[in-house]
Amino acid sequence: MTSIVLYCRPGFEKECGAEIQEKASWNEVYGYLQLTKNQGVVYFHLNNAEEGEVLMEKIPLRRLIFARQWFVTVTEKIDLPDYNRVETICQALGNEWQYADLRMETPDTNDGKELSKFCRKLAVPLRQGLRKEKILTEKGDKDGAVLHALFLSGKEVIMGYSLARNTSPHVMGIPRLKFPSAAPSRSTLKLDEAFLHFIPRNEWETRLTSGMNAVDLGAAPGGWTYQLVRRGMMVTSVDNGPMAESLMATGQVKHRTMDGFKYVPQKQNVYWLVCDMIEKPQRVAKLMSEWLLKGQCQEAIFNLKLPMKGRYQQVVDDLQTIKDAFSAHKVKYELYAKHLYYDREEVTVHARLLSPPPVTLDERKS
Ligand SMILES: C[S@@+](CC[C@H](N)C(=O)[O-])C[C@H]1O[C@@H](n2cnc3c(N)ncnc32)[C@H](O)[C@@H]1O
Repeated sequence: MTSIVLYCRPGFEKECGAEIQEKASWNEVYGYLQLTKNQGVVYFHLNNAEEGEVLMEKIPLRRLIFARQWFVTVTEKIDLPDYNRVETICQALGNEWQYADLRMETPDTNDGKELSKFCRKLAVPLRQGLRKEKILTEKGDKDGAVLHALFLSGKEVIMGYSLARNTSPHVMGIPRLKFPSAAPSRSTLKLDEAFLHFIPRNEWETRLTSGMNAVDLGAAPGGWTYQLVRRGMMVTSVDNGPMAESLMATGQVKHRTMDGFKYVPQKQNVYWLVCDMIEKPQRVAKLMSEWLLKGQCQEAIFNLKLPMKGRYQQVVDDLQTIKDAFSAHKVKYELYAKHLYYDREEVTVHARLLSPPPVTLDERKS
């Protein structure tokens, strides 16, 4: 049986499963789900084995909200002996396909963390063994397919592959970011990860650069503002709560103590709008689309809180609100949402218009 294996935050298996099943059905690919609560791994067993690759070709991983990483299985669960583990894995793989890279992975659980020590020890001999058998090569097949080894225990592994052009660059889809000691809150990592995820590195010089103006709604104590300041931006931070003095001392931050829903930017040339207000997601979604449609900012990154129940459907509905607002004005846009590693009960969204914003409300009045 061929399956798509997806990694998500433990506790979000249902959402991750519902999403792959829905998006697969849009591509007329069908199968059934197998998930265990809080394991952070979802199996989508395909009715038709050949369709694994079809799905990997057709659905960009970027379009999946709850999946951090994925692969198509090449083997069933392999029982590992105490000795000759490398040989057992090589044999199970055969030498039909070549891969350009190997990822040693475990579920993102406490047991998985323990297991990763075992994986680290096995990584070198396994790589060597795979190279010797020419399973791991410089280029690999399928435009550099990536080989995944998902260890469920020291005695069980599932092997599979993802396509290099449609995979996360991070092991298990988890970027390991270092908490900057000068940042005033741990939330800072969320915006750091969001920039890393949504904005391609080779575009940072034009889209994430010093001298830009930014607005941070729900900014206190300043974790997100810190990320903007760190990149040399001038930031207006809106929040009734206090901002960290270290940030105010940079001279790059103006603090406005007011309601983020009422704030109107004074400057014409705000590039970034970021928003981490803990508020009803529908309200935030509406506010963000208004800022973009009025041309009050060029790009926005914001969080949408997840409800206790019906989380996948709620995110789909919130995103639809934004899409409807953009479509009503016939603008081209880019809209991506991801349950990032540093997110918990929220997803992070990136939105920008790819065509000029429609006439602003002020202009319409005059
Ligand atoms: C999760 S915290 C933000 C943390 C911040 N991003 C950081 O990295 O330090 C949410 C903030 O939103 C603010 N907030 C909630 N509703 C707001 C509103 N209507 N207007 C302005 N700020 C609001 C709260 O005062 C709180 O400081």
